Amino acid sequence: METVVSGIRSTGKLHLGNYYGAVQNFVKMQHEHNCFFFIADWHSLTTHPNPADLHGNVKQVLVEYLAAGIDPEKATIYIQSEVPEIAELYLYLNMNAYLGELERATSFKDKVRDNPDNVNAGLLTYPVLMAADILIHKATKVPVGKDQEQHLEMARTFGNRFNRMYNNEYFPEPYAFNFSAKLVKIPGLDGKGKMGKSEGEANAVYLSDSPEVIRKKVMRAVTDAGPTIENQQKPDEIQNLFDLMKVVSTPDTLQHFDDLYNKMQIRYGDLKKQLAEDMIIATAPMRERIEAIANDEVYLRQVSIYGAIKARESAQKTIKEVREIIGFRKF
Ligand code: TRP
Repeated sequence: METVVSGIRSTGKLHLGNYYGAVQNFVKMQHEHNCFFFIADWHSLTTHPNPADLHGNVKQVLVEYLAAGIDPEKATIYIQSEVPEIAELYLYLNMNAYLGELERATSFKDKVRDNPDNVNAGLLTYPVLMAADILIHKATKVPVGKDQEQHLEMARTFGNRFNRMYNNEYFPEPYAFNFSAKLVKIPGLDGKGKMGKSEGEANAVYLSDSPEVIRKKVMRAVTDAGPTIENQQKPDEIQNLFDLMKVVSTPDTLQHFDDLYNKMQIRYGDLKKQLAEDMIIATAPMRERIEAIANDEVYLRQVSIYGAIKARESAQKTIKEVREIIGFRKF
């Protein structure tokens, strides 16, 4: 039994990328490991949500975690900002996180490029806070999508640096983990990057989207004029649709459309219709539960209080030991 930590930034509704990249793994792992799953509301502050939106976003993610099947009796589900020990560990780790390495992080460079007017220190030290999230429970496995691999490497660097500095093999090394053989990348519908990466509703399919909305979004997905030679390599926007099909459709369906593509007989309208229906089927059970759970304020309060207690128990043990290692002593 290993210790597992993962979180999702609370910026609103979960999309299929969150689900297949992370949450589905959470649900599987909770039966086998000591799991901590949290809502990264501190991380969401890098983009300055207004106070009115913040709580609703946190609630949305909590509800959708539960609707997806995370069981608060099995895993510890909590809200990052309710565990102040994480912020304390973040402070310690920041003392040995170097400007150069933080500036070189791909996610930081992307954000600087996309939002040159909001290059704040929280953005720069985002990977340090993420390392604190993980190291606070001394986790070894972190179920995340492919885009988080570099952050995981940084978490190992910070943990190892602490160990070396204090000559104490205290923090174990955390590694990215996915149930399928490789880390999955869930593309968006706009033919560009991963789902949820670009703003705008049309790029992502949300767990809470109605069947009509899913159909509309998928039918509008970017395609090209069709293959021009047999067995040709698919351009990105077409490959993306096949990648999505890979996660929601049966292998036979995928094969069927792949054969049609290779024979240059594909009709994208048919492919999209099938893809939309399979997405609807895949998300149906969650969609039904989201509404019921969202209306159950008593249950949500219980879950969050219980989760914070369990998470803090683990976090306080680590912080106590870390303080001793660093040399803080009581008079
Ligand atoms: N950076 C992660 C993402 O954007 C979210 C996250 C924050 C996280 N802290 C974490 C994931 C700790 C795993 C472990 O997806």
